[in-house]
Amino acid sequence: MTQTLARHRGLVSFGRRLALGLTLVSAVSLPSASAAESVALSVDASRKGAKIDRNLFGQFAEHLGQGVYEGVWVGPGSAIPNTRGIRNDVVAALKALKVPNVRWPGGCFADEYHWRKGIGRQRAVTLNPNWGGVTESNAFGTHEFMDFMDQIGSEAYVSVNVGSGTPQEAAEWLEYLTAAQPTTLAKERSANGHPAPYKIAYLGIGNESWDCGGNMTPEYYLSQLKAYSRFVRNFNPAQQPEPQRMLKIAVGPGGDGSRWTEWTDTVMKAWQGRSWSWDFDGLSMHSYTVVRWPPSYKSTGFGEAEYAQILKSTLEMDRLVATHSAIMDKYDPQKKVALVVDEWGGWYAPLPGTNPGFLAQQNSLRDAVLAALNLNIFARHAERVRMANIAQMVNVLQAMILTDKEKLVLTPTYHVFRMYVPFQDASFVPVSLDAGTYTQGDITLPRVDAIAARDKAGKLWLAVTNLDPNRSVAVEATLAGIRAKSAAGETLTAPNVDSVNSFDTPSAVAPKAIVAKVQGATLSLTLEPKSVTVISVEQ
Ligand code: AHR
Repeated sequence: MTQTLARHRGLVSFGRRLALGLTLVSAVSLPSASAAESVALSVDASRKGAKIDRNLFGQFAEHLGQGVYEGVWVGPGSAIPNTRGIRNDVVAALKALKVPNVRWPGGCFADEYHWRKGIGRQRAVTLNPNWGGVTESNAFGTHEFMDFMDQIGSEAYVSVNVGSGTPQEAAEWLEYLTAAQPTTLAKERSANGHPAPYKIAYLGIGNESWDCGGNMTPEYYLSQLKAYSRFVRNFNPAQQPEPQRMLKIAVGPGGDGSRWTEWTDTVMKAWQGRSWSWDFDGLSMHSYTVVRWPPSYKSTGFGEAEYAQILKSTLEMDRLVATHSAIMDKYDPQKKVALVVDEWGGWYAPLPGTNPGFLAQQNSLRDAVLAALNLNIFARHAERVRMANIAQMVNVLQAMILTDKEKLVLTPTYHVFRMYVPFQDASFVPVSLDAGTYTQGDITLPRVDAIAARDKAGKLWLAVTNLDPNRSVAVEATLAGIRAKSAAGETLTAPNVDSVNSFDTPSAVAPKAIVAKVQGATLSLTLEPKSVTVISVEQ
């Protein structure tokens, strides 16, 4: 035991020395790094795989806590700079992420949302019983959401109300949104300021219908799904031909027990036997990194044990995706139906002093690592997983952005999403890797995780995460299929696993430049402990 601790301490100080010496330019290969401190990786850039769909980098904005109100919407009369009520600072930050789609209005909220209350001059004030029991002003409704999509340059992923709504209500919403002909609803949309039909790229048919969405059995949900799929039409003429068609997403599993595998099996079996009159294009899956329920892990002020436990739990995403993909393969070997992980992320204890129904939490370096690991898992399953939405975009759960009145801070997770932008719509390139191990107590994890991809211009990108919070890693990457000249990018780390960006120290966790050494076909790079690194290779 003493020996183990002593060895461990020795490695920590070695890692720290490396981190201190090589923070800005990590081009130096480690002179005498032992096998334990180096990782060999090989990439054959000529082996292009599936497209890493840009929709894997989707966001989720629910009417929950300060996710929409305050986080996005401040109203046109606010002193906070805004465009038609939508915060300019939030829009600018999100534009840099090239957000491909935003899921709205929920979540559990969606199954109690009645769209007519969110249009026109007089908005009904309702309640939000799911999330803190607060009042819902309905000030942010259909037109405001679509304006927000325009401002950030993103696609709308609208979830319709199956739990307490009707196919007719949802069908009328879609007619209101998309009809080009002068129907009464289209004229009402025009009178409310938008004569042209809106583009609705994705339609979610219910949310967690097995739970907050109505506690339905898979069979009951299927009967609802068929009716909604049949009657909720998109009339926008520009969306009639492929590939512009609106894609419909059915409720899928929320875990990996038999309850969830049966759900996937039942819904996919029905899909295989579908008729001309109903169909869907995606099956939703929700999976949070929470470890135990109710969420009790702290989002800041934790140590290495919690860090390792959360990462162990988040890596379960791979098995979950594989389990449900295998069931989908049985009924859909051609992978026509996408697995849509439209709620994922770390879910921790509410911040002390906040309304527990607001799901407010901080966002640490641990979450940056968590985000990278999940994005890597999705990329490795890119043939089946073609859309994902982190929960949630602003001020709620694993957010990109935190706001406090006029102040805004970008979280470590935001930085990972920004660093991963080049992977949007890039082609997956397989990486062979001897990952090594990182052990904390009785938890052993891979020490390093990596993905690679080629963008549309053919440039090779590598994303490499060092999970080990104590030791640097010397990566020696063998590159085949390209003639590499140089490589550079960004790395994200911080002094502690629970380092956060606060309103007082907004740049405590911020990416910095990194350069790799390229010699012949070998790329050498030193990864700092607990870091996420993205580099591109110049040819
Ligand atoms: O993201 C918070 C909630 O988690 C969503 O409303 C619900 O779908 C899930 O249970």
